[in-house]
Amino acid sequence: MKISANVRPAQGQAWTRALALALLLGTAACTAATTESGVETAPAAPSAPADAPAQQSASADHVRWPSVKSGVARDPAVEARVEKILAGMSVEEKVAQTIQPDIASVTPADMRRYKFGSILNGGNSAPGNNETAPAREWLALADAFWDAAMSAEWAGEKIPPIWGSDAVHGHTNVVGATIFPHNIGLGAMRNPDVIQKIGEVTAAEMALTGIDWDFSPTLAVVRDDRWGRSYEGFSEDPEIVRSYAGRMVEGLQGRPGTPGFLGAGKVISSAKHFVGDGGTSAGKDQGDNPSTPEELRDIHGAGYPPAIEAGVQAIMASFSSVRGEKTTGDRDLLTVALKEDMNFDGFVVGDWNAHGQVPGCSNTSCSAAMNAGLDMYMAPDSWRGLYDSTLAQVRSGEIAQARLDEAVRRILRVKIRAGMFEKPKPSARPMAGEFNRLGSPEHRAVARQAVRESLVLLKNQNKLLPLSPKRNVLVAGDGADNIAKQSGGWTITWQGTGISNKDFPNGQSIFGGIAETVKAAGGTATLSTDGSYKSKPDAAIVVFGEEPYAEFVGDRPTIEYSPADKKDLELLQKLKKAGIPVVAVFLSGRPMWVNPEINASDAFVAAFLPGSEGGGVADVLFADAAGKPRNDFKGKLSYSWPKRVDQSPLNRGDTNYDPLFAYGFGLTYADAGNLAPLSEERPAGARTGADGVLFGRGTVPGGWTLGLRDEGGPASPVAGNAGATGTGRLRVAGVDRRAQEDARRFTWSGQGWAAAQILAAQPIDLTREANGELSLILDYRVDAAPSAPVTIGMDNATLPIGGLLRAAPVGQWASVAIPLRCFATAGVDMSRIAIPFSFATAGRLTLSISDVRVASAAGPQGRCGQE
Ligand code: BGC
Ligand code: BGC
Repeated sequence: MKISANVRPAQGQAWTRALALALLLGTAACTAATTESGVETAPAAPSAPADAPAQQSASADHVRWPSVKSGVARDPAVEARVEKILAGMSVEEKVAQTIQPDIASVTPADMRRYKFGSILNGGNSAPGNNETAPAREWLALADAFWDAAMSAEWAGEKIPPIWGSDAVHGHTNVVGATIFPHNIGLGAMRNPDVIQKIGEVTAAEMALTGIDWDFSPTLAVVRDDRWGRSYEGFSEDPEIVRSYAGRMVEGLQGRPGTPGFLGAGKVISSAKHFVGDGGTSAGKDQGDNPSTPEELRDIHGAGYPPAIEAGVQAIMASFSSVRGEKTTGDRDLLTVALKEDMNFDGFVVGDWNAHGQVPGCSNTSCSAAMNAGLDMYMAPDSWRGLYDSTLAQVRSGEIAQARLDEAVRRILRVKIRAGMFEKPKPSARPMAGEFNRLGSPEHRAVARQAVRESLVLLKNQNKLLPLSPKRNVLVAGDGADNIAKQSGGWTITWQGTGISNKDFPNGQSIFGGIAETVKAAGGTATLSTDGSYKSKPDAAIVVFGEEPYAEFVGDRPTIEYSPADKKDLELLQKLKKAGIPVVAVFLSGRPMWVNPEINASDAFVAAFLPGSEGGGVADVLFADAAGKPRNDFKGKLSYSWPKRVDQSPLNRGDTNYDPLFAYGFGLTYADAGNLAPLSEERPAGARTGADGVLFGRGTVPGGWTLGLRDEGGPASPVAGNAGATGTGRLRVAGVDRRAQEDARRFTWSGQGWAAAQILAAQPIDLTREANGELSLILDYRVDAAPSAPVTIGMDNATLPIGGLLRAAPVGQWASVAIPLRCFATAGVDMSRIAIPFSFATAGRLTLSISDVRVASAAGPQGRCGQE
């Protein structure tokens, strides 16, 4: 944060966007130089001083953060023990404490050799590379890593490692665990007592599998719901985040000062992502937060003081930037705000290779992060190179010995407080291995209560709800009997995809809960995904909504629900037309523009992502035998609900705040729930995706399609990250560039003409962009040179590009900018483009593409193609 604080927000935003674009363009070349050739860029600045609380050295624009008293008092005995252990450590051992590899890329043998301070399992990592590995394999692997560390040769005392995991809505990496609603639903619940119970259950289930540390709670205050992680936040407003933060920490860790603190069945908690993750421009994940220093502290930072008061022992630095500076390298935030102002004395862990995004750094080398105050690097697959470079940097003085010591001191302090030195191997700890407690009835009851209390009723025309359980109910929609869909991302797999009901042995679908309730009362419930029926039902419940996603994969250009595919709307309309009263249960990770769907429903329930206890939905929708509600709706929106497609950001307190349903809205059975028909008008001339991105981070804008075409044939849409044309002439597969599967490799076999195309949801209008001299920018890597002419095109117009590809060095990322006016000259109607990007050849070619965007080119205007 060295940029002037006087930049007004609006200006700041434009400024940062321009910078972000410049960086994006710059990174293309830079990444090629570092990752591909293995050459490390030299670190930019000499080391900053180690954290020395006495000498405040904040930059001029630093605002003071509150002085906080941690719930965990400094204990002189603990501190003496830290110093004693530290004094006996070799420098190699110290560096290893600060590095956290992922179990997909590190073995117990590596642990024995290096003696790492910690390991993690990322969202896609699991024992034996099996995402559905049984709980006992998790515990066995925890033992293996612990044994490896404890049987290694140590210079002094042996230091046990800690295993961290994303138990972000229950211990959801493990099959059979209780899966709670995602935080967005918990925010609607407004019940801090239940939050604490959720923390307790989550910690207990983690302890069964021998895992020590939870990367939770997320304290993001989400300001733009286009963000793919909106559902990980409790609210758009600091008030709820503030009231939940400490309670979740206490549930996970126990109460400081009591004997149970970090004892049996408890885990270390980490608040994340410090700070400002929920406030990036346009809701771009890992993007830039333009907030003023005061907004950053008072809005985005609101959850941290209560988390520290409750004794949180770890804090994860954010991937994102603040006014252009990556948080992971920001000393004002990590050292001054967190450790000096707020007196945080636990340790700061980085996010997944996030240090590699700090200027001057790569995944395998980043003194700037440790010098800024990072204590532990999350280095999933980069740990080996990072270990070597960090060790060298300490030896050369680029990282001061005192700074390394301070990092290790913090890690040791937490391990001692957590009793790690006394605990036996994971499987010998209390509760470990009692797998019958995973998803136990008591645990599931807590989750079911959370589901009941998090449902928000938005419409109840003529008091259709509660339904009588004695009638004949049709249950439709692809979310009705789909536990994966009702659970969302971060469920068994990172994205929450590729799993089915059989992977939830202790879960219940929403239909499952309805069937149970209705059957018990003598009614009938029929599952019919497509809504067809033999005898006309008394009412229909349609469960539909967003498909699971996590992180940047969920970023969207607008908050319109399913802009291209209107099958859910058609289903609602069909039932309504048939005169059947329709209840919509909407599953989503954020408020969305669903005016047409609300109009087509008599009752509309925002259920968010309720998790494994679908039965909680029936608990509220159905009356008892006497027709009285069994449970009233308690949920109140913790995010404002939009009236128009283009309303994001939209937050309580905005000037001209004009939501459809305000923050805090939620009907009860006592309310009149009628709603007049809503406007279904969408803004004309839809533009490209957020920031002009046509393809990036592995996805096309919401509702758009990546298609592959053979000559004369229709484009076959690519679902997921791999696919082929009907003839197999052209294939596509996911490849990694900056992140996992964020790029695509296209292989043309040379058996005839075929094209890769991006198809817009509705024709887009790029007239303004073409007039403004913008370009179509493509980041690509030639993996095998073309054997025949190649074209790049929009709609039916093409430009030759084979010459450029033949000249490009094979295996290196590069970027090309083609002025939009070239396509206009070639005959494209810029006001109505259905296929904004097309790439074709009849020859052989292997080409990887990581980004396609409409933006202003960095250099002078490029050429209109190259024969
Ligand atoms: C990991 C996640 C991580 C993501 C970051 C995935 O492979 O499993 O835990 O957040 O990569 O890009
Ligand atoms: C996410 C974090 C997560 C980490 C480990 C990152 O990509 O941003 O929230 O804790 O991966 O899986």
